Amino acid sequence: MQTHLRGRDLITTQEWTKDEIDTVLEVALELKRRRALGEPHALLRDKVLAMLFFFSSTRTRASFEAGMAQLGGHAQFIESKSTQIAHGDTAKEIGEILGRYNDGLAIRQVDWGVGNGYIREVAGASRVPVLNMQCDRFHPFQALADLLTIVERRGDPRNLTVDVSWAYAESYQKPLSVPQSLILLLTRYGMNVRLTHPPEFKLLPEMLDQAETNARAAGGSFEVLDDFDAGFRDADVVYPKSWGCMLTTADLEESARIGRGYADWIADEARMGLAKADAMYLHCLPADRGIEVTDGVIDGPNSAVYDEAENRLHVQKAVMALTM
Ligand code: CP
Repeated sequence: MQTHLRGRDLITTQEWTKDEIDTVLEVALELKRRRALGEPHALLRDKVLAMLFFFSSTRTRASFEAGMAQLGGHAQFIESKSTQIAHGDTAKEIGEILGRYNDGLAIRQVDWGVGNGYIREVAGASRVPVLNMQCDRFHPFQALADLLTIVERRGDPRNLTVDVSWAYAESYQKPLSVPQSLILLLTRYGMNVRLTHPPEFKLLPEMLDQAETNARAAGGSFEVLDDFDAGFRDADVVYPKSWGCMLTTADLEESARIGRGYADWIADEARMGLAKADAMYLHCLPADRGIEVTDGVIDGPNSAVYDEAENRLHVQKAVMALTM
């Protein structure tokens, strides 16, 4: 267990050692146990987290805010549109100023080509830890919750076959951050990770290179497929979710048009039938029901989406308690 995480930023799990991530999982399970038993765990009494959102959220906002209250502190919700950011507050000023009011800064900024740089600029100016609540490149707390869910249900994750797959959705062109964080993190735990997507829906090449390096170091594997059904075949865990084709076109309308050519990439009962009988279905949510996944799959016996959403709370509390 690592005990020197106070003051650390979490922008991508790749910047934390495996020992440090193991510590997060261990502390998350302990805090989950304490909450289940009703044991108080006010580890952050009198501490305040600023949560700055440039984009909508259900789970992230609610779980960070609940987590801070359960840890004895407070979370302040700040929407960029109700601040003076639009009138000139810079990232440096946000880091300097909110860093003086608070004990931690959490930020969601998913604009393509902007979000990660913004969060890093705030972190450079902040005297307190900066936590990435999702940017254009990474969604580290989602991937940590997903890993915890897999480990809780399956134990040793080594050699599990996991399919991180694109699926069709209509609601909006979702960021690349979830699949990128997943392939980076799951490969470090010795899983056999498949990344499955139509040719236009590529992830950043440096993420693939890092996933390959991680897999080699951990004794697992990493492969890229372009056949939706092949991704499901004999998988232990399937994670079909949509993302935009930002690397093919900067035009979101064009991305949506290209996606419509793959409208049959829906996680349905037939696809689940290709995976192992006890295969776990994961999705970070929100999902486009009836389009990205059928009700029968997301509400079915293989689905772990509610445990997965719950685990956001526990991993976030662990990271806040360790860093703030
Ligand atoms: N999975 C996730 O980050 O959910 P929200 O967008 O609702 O926060």
